[in-house]
Amino acid sequence: MARLDKKELGIRSEELGIRSEKLIFSSPPFSKELAQELLNNYSSPLYVYNGDRLGETIEQITKAVSYPRTQFRFASVTNGNIALLKIFCSFGWGLHANTPGDIYLGLQAGFDPSEIVYSGSNLNRAEMLQVLNWGITTLNFDSLPQLQLCCEVLPKGREKNIRLGLRLNLPEITGDSRIGVRPEEFGDAIALTAEFGLKLSGLHFYRGTGTNATTAFTQVIDTVIATAQQLPDWEYLDFGGGFGYPYHHNKAAFDWEIFGAELTERITHLGRKIDLVIEPGRSAIAGCATLLAQVVSVKWQGEKQIVGVDTTVANLSVPSVHGGYREIVTWKQADNPHSLFTTDICGNTTYSRDYLGKDCQLPALEIGDIVAILDVGAYGYAMSSHFLHRPKPAEVLLENGTYRLIRKREDYSVLLTNQLITNIQQPL
Ligand SMILES: Cc1ncc(COP(=O)(O)O)c(C=O)c1O
Repeated sequence: MARLDKKELGIRSEELGIRSEKLIFSSPPFSKELAQELLNNYSSPLYVYNGDRLGETIEQITKAVSYPRTQFRFASVTNGNIALLKIFCSFGWGLHANTPGDIYLGLQAGFDPSEIVYSGSNLNRAEMLQVLNWGITTLNFDSLPQLQLCCEVLPKGREKNIRLGLRLNLPEITGDSRIGVRPEEFGDAIALTAEFGLKLSGLHFYRGTGTNATTAFTQVIDTVIATAQQLPDWEYLDFGGGFGYPYHHNKAAFDWEIFGAELTERITHLGRKIDLVIEPGRSAIAGCATLLAQVVSVKWQGEKQIVGVDTTVANLSVPSVHGGYREIVTWKQADNPHSLFTTDICGNTTYSRDYLGKDCQLPALEIGDIVAILDVGAYGYAMSSHFLHRPKPAEVLLENGTYRLIRKREDYSVLLTNQLITNIQQPL
């Protein structure tokens, strides 16, 4: 663990949602000296998390939804690093699990099974049993066969403390989605659970990831609540997931205060005690991480600067593979904001989509310069892969004026994991 000078941190710490429109680009998230020190210690590329900023974001979201029966569950599909999960745990949040792997990591991080909500899809029998054997008590299903499988494999004696819910599929809101159960199937679902002596007590709604318009949520609250009321044993409403994050520095953020106030107002006046589950992923963690990389090549194609860096879309697949935007800044443009060139930031492979950023406005760069790819906390490391056979970067956490390694850099031996090199033949 290394100590940090306070001045080195927190340049962006006051910016939780909407960033200043006066800036033509975002500031680097910490000092150049610190960036260099981290790369000297842990090599490039490097994921750097700001734990203080994460804590501030968690507090901001928590405060915005004042309804007293609210349970926050961090959607760890976005980031499964144990050190970061522990931060959510320390703020009293639980976990939202999309897969059994999310649950496994959550338990390792110290979440109690009763604080983990499962709402995934298409488990096989062994997986369903595993999830239940881990002690998970709140489960939302996106099809009747999955609900039935759960009822079939639920160990005897667990009926009393289990909460079963349905993921809502309402084409006029959720669009043409494969996921979820339509209201016309509710009757069959209720009958099915009753056969097993169980009840359906939850409705789970998910708006769709990265939705920045606050009204996209607030305008559907009444419809979702009215649909939930079709369940006679309704006890909890899980409102997702899907809250956006403004990756462009001059775009408005999803407004937690407006959303929290409207949802609280509606649910308070229902006249029944409903538990509210909120499971933010991206909106909680996107802004607290930066991927640092170093320039290894610069060339010019006419007016365009082509910069090669020592990371790849396999380390951060979102911008290139999924079409998302992540702002890229350097410490040079902060010094000289007026001399910028259209620049492509290219990964260290010849894969045709290996661009970390296209048409960025950056100063003339040199070999050895550090670039900072911002807002990579969600779906960053979590979506990195061994495609292109490049080992994954290390992860570092800055917190309370110190930093520490929270995941080691991989070496090439990871590429051999589970490969059977010796030739053991089985007779046919
Ligand atoms: C049910 C559910 N909740 C929450 C999330 C997290 O979504 P987001 O990062 O958009 O908040 C997901 C993402 O897949 C999800 O499927």
